[in-house]
Amino acid sequence: MTCSNGTRTEIETAVSRRKFLEFLAASPVVAPGVAGALASLATLGAGEALAQSYDVLRAAPSNVGPVITDPAQALNVFEFEPAAKQALPPAHYGYLATGVDGDETLKANRDGFEKYKIQVRRLVDARKIDTSVKIFGETWASPIALAPVSSQGAFHPEAEAAVARAAKVRGHQMILSTVGSTAIEEVIKERGAPVWYMLYPTDDWMVTEALVRRAEKAGAPAIVLTVDRQGGRNTETLFRERRLDTRTCTDCHTPGFKNEVSRKPMFDGIDVDKVTNLYGTGMTWDYVKRLRGIVKGKLVLKGIVTGEDAKIALTHGVDGIIVSNHGGRAEESLQSTIEALPAVVAAVNGKIPVLVDSGFRRGTDVLKALALGATAVCIGRPYCWGLAAFGQPGVEAVLNIMQREFVTIMRQVGAVKISDIDQRAVLHV
Ligand SMILES: Cc1cc2nc3c(=O)[nH]c(=O)nc-3n(C[C@H](O)[C@H](O)[C@H](O)COP(=O)(O)O)c2cc1C
Repeated sequence: MTCSNGTRTEIETAVSRRKFLEFLAASPVVAPGVAGALASLATLGAGEALAQSYDVLRAAPSNVGPVITDPAQALNVFEFEPAAKQALPPAHYGYLATGVDGDETLKANRDGFEKYKIQVRRLVDARKIDTSVKIFGETWASPIALAPVSSQGAFHPEAEAAVARAAKVRGHQMILSTVGSTAIEEVIKERGAPVWYMLYPTDDWMVTEALVRRAEKAGAPAIVLTVDRQGGRNTETLFRERRLDTRTCTDCHTPGFKNEVSRKPMFDGIDVDKVTNLYGTGMTWDYVKRLRGIVKGKLVLKGIVTGEDAKIALTHGVDGIIVSNHGGRAEESLQSTIEALPAVVAAVNGKIPVLVDSGFRRGTDVLKALALGATAVCIGRPYCWGLAAFGQPGVEAVLNIMQREFVTIMRQVGAVKISDIDQRAVLHV
């Protein structure tokens, strides 16, 4: 049985931990303050990680129900999902949660992490941790970036603008989707720095070219071509949730493909009359070559999951790869991306950066990917849960928790900087 964010066990664990906190808060036999202090962990900065357990004992009590009502109550990123579900209409939650077919690949993405154990090291002075990485000449404060997620207006009225502000505050890079609810110019303004732009090819080259030009003019240093949506998909969880939604879709969605596309701000001023398909079902490596010819900055392919395709990408002048199965929303392959990663890393052999996404929820997941050779990781649903439930503060809290967990496990493997993390830190089982 699967859940949108991974295994049911993980959700159940989050909820039972929450119930345990409630119990603690109400219990006369537990020292006052413990439950509230546990909840306040979410607000700790990375630099305070060493003091965590003492702070738990010191902080004031608070009542926390089964679903968090404030981002500061969250102990981990999973706890944002029930809050998002509560905040969203069923169809919108279904859109965010869904995988494809039986959601087995969605689940596989989480299960994949269990096949790698972490090898810790002792007696390394790890008081000062530097999580910065350099990608395409730019220094990122954290190797955790925000994956492109479409239509964020369905999750919160401030949509990508709120996400961009959170990314700015917490120091993370983000990738804007072609079908986002916010234009790239506004997103860059809110983030205060350029963002990467994710391109759906469309089946009209003029439109594609216009999108690339606009993104580059706005300052996007990298164009990310998503190549995993050509086959169509069966999003059963979405369809199931849709049945529970009593609202009329046409109140917000204008029927017809062209209206769906043209209402997205990135298409403003572009003639989409000839577009019948966003995903370029006829796209081949020739298309990548053609795109390479017009992209002035970096060209990244998102959705590569085999060493074979990674090698072909290299011969087409691609500057970077994102190993991704679209968060289990593209095809039901049952292949987790963490397990697909090593083959891609081997094929690329250090020539270009390899990023990875799909199922990343814990700092330990990030460490495993970096140990297997990834340059950085992206997260999708977790920041959208934060956005849906609490707007910008929710996104900030999600990023804070993942970064804090990542710093904690870096210390335990004796890595004080990203380049200290290598394959010795993981064991495949
Ligand atoms: C609601 C939703 C919309 C998405 N839209 C896009 C998109 O427009 N373009 C794209 O390349 N990937 C899209 N993705 C996939 C993400 O970029 C990313 O690959 C995935 O969410 C990572 O998995 P995770 O959600 O388990 O972290 C979307 C994912 C979700 C959940």
